[in-house]
Amino acid sequence: MKQEIGKKRIIIALDGPAASGKSTTARRVAERLGYTYIDTGAMYRSVTLKALQQGVLDLLRHSPENVSGLLHPLAIHFEGDHVFLDGRDVTAEIRENRVSREVSFISSLKPVRDRLRQMQQELGRQHGVVMDGRDIGTVVFPDAELKIFLVADARERAKRRHAELLATSRDGIGLPSLDALEEEIRSRDRDDAEREHAPLKKHADAHEIDTTNLTIDRQVDMVCNLALEREQVDG
Ligand code: DC
Repeated sequence: MKQEIGKKRIIIALDGPAASGKSTTARRVAERLGYTYIDTGAMYRSVTLKALQQGVLDLLRHSPENVSGLLHPLAIHFEGDHVFLDGRDVTAEIRENRVSREVSFISSLKPVRDRLRQMQQELGRQHGVVMDGRDIGTVVFPDAELKIFLVADARERAKRRHAELLATSRDGIGLPSLDALEEEIRSRDRDDAEREHAPLKKHADAHEIDTTNLTIDRQVDMVCNLALEREQVDG
Protein backbone atom coordinates (compact mmCIF):
# COMPACT_ATOMS: atom_id res chain seq x y z
CA MET A 1 0.00 0.00 0.00
CA LYS A 2 1.78 3.17 -1.16
CA GLN A 3 1.36 6.75 -0.02
CA GLU A 4 -1.86 8.37 -1.28
CA ILE A 5 -1.64 11.87 -2.72
CA GLY A 6 -3.01 14.56 -0.40
CA LYS A 7 -2.06 12.89 2.87
CA LYS A 8 0.54 14.35 5.15
CA ARG A 9 3.89 12.58 5.20
CA ILE A 10 4.89 12.17 8.83
CA ILE A 11 7.95 11.28 10.89
CA ILE A 12 7.78 7.88 12.57
CA ALA A 13 10.22 7.53 15.49
CA LEU A 14 10.82 3.90 16.40
CA ASP A 15 12.85 3.32 19.55
CA GLY A 16 13.64 0.32 21.69
CA PRO A 17 16.43 -1.86 23.06
CA ALA A 18 18.82 -4.04 21.01
CA ALA A 19 17.20 -6.76 18.88
CA SER A 20 13.64 -5.74 19.76
CA GLY A 21 12.69 -5.92 16.06
CA LYS A 22 13.13 -2.23 15.28
CA SER A 23 15.07 -2.42 12.05
CA THR A 24 13.00 -5.16 10.38
CA THR A 25 9.77 -3.45 11.41
CA ALA A 26 11.00 0.00 10.38
CA ARG A 27 12.26 -1.21 6.98
CA ARG A 28 8.94 -2.92 6.15
CA VAL A 29 6.81 -0.04 7.40
CA ALA A 30 8.84 2.32 5.22
CA GLU A 31 8.38 0.05 2.19
CA ARG A 32 4.62 -0.14 2.68
CA LEU A 33 4.14 3.58 3.18
CA GLY A 34 6.62 4.61 0.49
CA TYR A 35 8.77 6.29 3.17
CA THR A 36 12.56 6.38 3.64
CA TYR A 37 14.05 4.14 6.31
CA ILE A 38 16.93 5.52 8.38
CA ASP A 39 18.84 3.17 10.67
CA THR A 40 20.54 5.42 13.25
CA GLY A 41 22.17 2.43 14.99
CA ALA A 42 24.11 1.93 11.74
CA MET A 43 25.40 5.49 12.09
CA TYR A 44 26.70 4.87 15.65
CA ARG A 45 28.17 1.57 14.44
CA SER A 46 29.92 3.36 11.58
CA VAL A 47 31.60 5.83 13.93
CA THR A 48 32.63 2.89 16.14
CA LEU A 49 34.14 1.10 13.14
CA LYS A 50 36.07 4.26 12.31
CA ALA A 51 37.44 4.38 15.88
CA LEU A 52 38.53 0.72 15.59
CA GLN A 53 40.18 1.37 12.23
CA GLN A 54 42.01 4.41 13.58
CA GLY A 55 43.03 2.42 16.70
CA VAL A 56 41.86 5.22 19.00
CA LEU A 57 39.47 3.40 21.38
CA ASP A 58 41.92 3.18 24.29
CA LEU A 59 42.95 6.79 23.79
CA LEU A 60 39.28 7.86 23.84
CA ARG A 61 38.53 5.90 26.98
CA HIS A 62 41.21 7.90 28.78
CA SER A 63 40.85 11.20 26.93
CA PRO A 64 37.38 11.46 25.35
CA GLU A 65 38.10 15.07 24.39
CA ASN A 66 40.17 13.68 21.47
CA VAL A 67 37.01 12.50 19.73
CA SER A 68 36.85 15.32 17.18
CA GLY A 69 39.33 13.49 14.87
CA LEU A 70 36.61 10.87 14.36
CA LEU A 71 33.88 13.35 13.57
CA HIS A 72 35.54 15.83 11.21
CA PRO A 73 35.36 14.90 8.44
CA LEU A 74 32.58 12.31 8.72
CA ALA A 75 30.32 11.25 5.85
CA ILE A 76 27.66 8.60 6.36
CA HIS A 77 25.10 7.90 3.70
CA PHE A 78 22.57 5.22 2.85
CA GLU A 79 21.88 3.65 -0.55
CA GLY A 80 19.00 1.21 -0.22
CA ASP A 81 20.08 -1.31 2.44
CA HIS A 82 23.74 -0.30 2.20
CA VAL A 83 25.62 2.02 4.55
CA PHE A 84 28.64 4.02 3.37
CA LEU A 85 31.24 5.48 5.71
CA ASP A 86 33.51 8.10 4.16
CA GLY A 87 32.64 6.70 0.73
CA ARG A 88 33.22 2.99 1.54
CA ASP A 89 30.50 0.33 1.83
CA VAL A 90 30.62 -0.86 5.48
CA THR A 91 27.25 -2.66 5.60
CA ALA A 92 28.69 -6.03 6.67
CA GLU A 93 31.58 -4.76 8.81
CA ILE A 94 29.43 -2.66 11.14
CA ARG A 95 27.52 -5.82 12.21
CA GLU A 96 30.68 -7.60 13.37
CA ASN A 97 30.86 -8.46 17.04
CA ARG A 98 33.96 -6.29 17.62
CA VAL A 99 31.79 -3.29 16.64
CA SER A 100 28.77 -4.42 18.74
CA ARG A 101 31.03 -4.69 21.80
CA GLU A 102 32.28 -1.09 21.56
CA VAL A 103 29.29 0.78 20.17
CA SER A 104 27.75 1.60 23.57
CA PHE A 105 30.95 3.34 24.61
CA ILE A 106 31.18 5.40 21.41
CA SER A 107 27.49 6.29 21.58
CA SER A 108 27.89 7.55 25.15
CA LEU A 109 30.17 10.39 23.99
CA LYS A 110 28.34 13.70 23.78
CA PRO A 111 30.19 15.13 20.74
CA VAL A 112 29.36 11.93 18.82
CA ARG A 113 25.67 12.24 19.75
CA ASP A 114 25.58 15.93 18.87
CA ARG A 115 27.10 15.34 15.44
CA LEU A 116 24.89 12.35 14.58
CA ARG A 117 21.76 14.10 15.89
CA GLN A 118 22.40 16.97 13.46
CA MET A 119 22.88 14.53 10.58
CA GLN A 120 19.68 12.67 11.54
CA GLN A 121 17.62 15.85 11.79
CA GLU A 122 18.85 16.82 8.34
CA LEU A 123 17.96 13.37 6.94
CA GLY A 124 14.43 13.66 8.38
CA ARG A 125 13.82 17.24 7.29
CA GLN A 126 11.70 16.25 4.28
CA HIS A 127 9.41 14.04 6.42
CA GLY A 128 8.14 10.71 5.08
CA VAL A 129 10.74 8.86 7.15
CA VAL A 130 10.84 5.95 9.55
CA MET A 131 13.84 6.41 11.81
CA ASP A 132 14.85 3.78 14.33
CA GLY A 133 17.19 4.09 17.30
CA ARG A 134 17.21 4.76 21.03
CA ASP A 135 16.49 8.48 21.33
CA ILE A 136 14.57 9.37 18.17
CA GLY A 137 11.26 10.11 19.91
CA THR A 138 12.88 11.72 22.96
CA VAL A 139 15.74 13.79 21.51
CA VAL A 140 16.11 13.75 17.72
CA PHE A 141 12.44 14.29 16.79
CA PRO A 142 10.48 14.95 20.00
CA ASP A 143 7.72 16.37 17.76
CA ALA A 144 7.48 13.26 15.57
CA GLU A 145 3.81 12.66 14.74
CA LEU A 146 4.13 8.97 15.64
CA LYS A 147 6.40 7.55 18.32
CA ILE A 148 6.71 3.81 18.86
CA PHE A 149 8.63 2.06 21.64
CA LEU A 150 9.28 -1.63 20.95
CA VAL A 151 10.18 -4.00 23.80
CA ALA A 152 10.79 -7.76 23.97
CA ASP A 153 12.01 -10.34 26.46
CA ALA A 154 15.89 -10.51 26.56
CA ARG A 155 16.02 -14.28 25.85
CA GLU A 156 13.79 -13.87 22.82
CA ARG A 157 16.00 -11.03 21.58
CA ALA A 158 19.11 -13.21 22.01
CA LYS A 159 17.43 -15.95 19.94
CA ARG A 160 16.69 -13.44 17.17
CA ARG A 161 20.28 -12.15 17.12
CA HIS A 162 21.57 -15.75 17.08
CA ALA A 163 19.37 -16.63 14.09
CA GLU A 164 20.55 -13.47 12.31
CA LEU A 165 24.23 -14.32 12.90
CA LEU A 166 23.68 -17.93 11.76
CA ALA A 167 22.02 -16.74 8.58
CA THR A 168 24.95 -14.49 7.69
CA SER A 169 27.77 -16.80 8.84
CA ARG A 170 29.44 -19.12 6.31
CA ASP A 171 29.77 -22.16 8.59
CA GLY A 172 28.41 -21.15 12.00
CA ILE A 173 31.84 -21.80 13.57
CA GLY A 174 32.92 -19.33 16.25
CA LEU A 175 29.48 -17.83 16.76
CA PRO A 176 28.71 -16.68 20.32
CA SER A 177 26.39 -18.93 22.37
CA LEU A 178 22.81 -17.98 23.15
CA ASP A 179 23.79 -17.30 26.79
CA ALA A 180 26.66 -15.05 25.72
CA LEU A 181 24.38 -13.12 23.37
CA GLU A 182 21.74 -12.69 26.07
CA GLU A 183 24.39 -11.36 28.46
CA GLU A 184 25.70 -8.98 25.79
CA ILE A 185 22.16 -7.73 25.11
CA ARG A 186 21.44 -7.20 28.82
CA SER A 187 24.70 -5.38 29.30
CA ARG A 188 24.01 -3.16 26.26
CA ASP A 189 20.48 -2.45 27.61
CA ARG A 190 22.03 -1.31 30.88
CA ASP A 191 24.64 0.87 29.16
CA ASP A 192 22.08 2.42 26.78
CA ALA A 193 19.54 3.11 29.56
CA GLU A 194 22.00 4.39 32.16
CA ARG A 195 24.20 6.66 30.04
CA GLU A 196 24.20 10.35 30.82
CA HIS A 197 23.39 11.71 27.34
CA ALA A 198 20.16 10.74 25.56
CA PRO A 199 19.60 7.45 27.42
CA LEU A 200 17.19 4.85 26.05
CA LYS A 201 13.82 5.84 27.44
CA LYS A 202 10.19 5.74 26.37
CA HIS A 203 8.68 9.12 25.51
CA ALA A 204 5.42 9.78 27.38
CA ASP A 205 3.54 9.93 24.05
CA ALA A 206 5.05 6.75 22.63
CA HIS A 207 2.96 3.67 21.88
CA GLU A 208 4.65 0.70 23.55
CA ILE A 209 4.49 -2.58 21.62
CA ASP A 210 5.79 -5.80 23.20
CA THR A 211 7.05 -7.95 20.30
CA THR A 212 8.00 -11.07 22.32
CA ASN A 213 5.06 -13.06 20.95
CA LEU A 214 4.29 -11.07 17.82
CA THR A 215 5.14 -11.97 14.25
CA ILE A 216 6.91 -9.36 12.15
CA ASP A 217 3.81 -9.07 9.95
CA ARG A 218 1.68 -8.24 12.98
CA GLN A 219 4.16 -5.61 14.21
CA VAL A 220 4.26 -4.02 10.79
CA ASP A 221 0.45 -3.96 10.59
CA MET A 222 0.18 -2.33 14.01
CA VAL A 223 2.67 0.42 13.19
CA CYS A 224 1.21 1.03 9.70
CA ASN A 225 -2.32 1.34 11.10
CA LEU A 226 -1.15 3.91 13.64
CA ALA A 227 0.76 5.75 10.89
CA LEU A 228 -2.27 5.88 8.60
CA GLU A 229 -4.33 7.34 11.47
CA ARG A 230 -1.68 9.98 12.11
CA GLU A 231 -1.42 10.86 8.42
CA GLN A 232 -5.18 11.57 8.48
CA VAL A 233 -5.22 13.44 11.81
CA ASP A 234 -2.23 15.58 10.92
CA GLY A 235 -3.05 15.94 7.23
O1 DC B 1 20.21 -0.59 16.88
P1 DC B 1 21.66 -1.11 17.01
O2 DC B 1 21.82 -2.30 17.89
O3 DC B 1 22.32 -1.29 15.68
O4 DC B 1 22.42 0.11 17.73
C1 DC B 1 23.79 0.03 18.05
C2 DC B 1 24.12 0.89 19.25
O5 DC B 1 24.04 2.27 18.89
C3 DC B 1 23.24 0.73 20.48
O6 DC B 1 23.82 -0.13 21.42
C4 DC B 1 23.13 2.11 21.06
C5 DC B 1 23.54 3.03 19.97
N1 DC B 1 22.45 3.87 19.48
C6 DC B 1 22.19 5.04 20.16
O7 DC B 1 22.83 5.30 21.18
N2 DC B 1 21.25 5.90 19.71
C7 DC B 1 20.55 5.62 18.60
N3 DC B 1 19.63 6.50 18.15
C8 DC B 1 20.78 4.42 17.89
C9 DC B 1 21.74 3.55 18.37
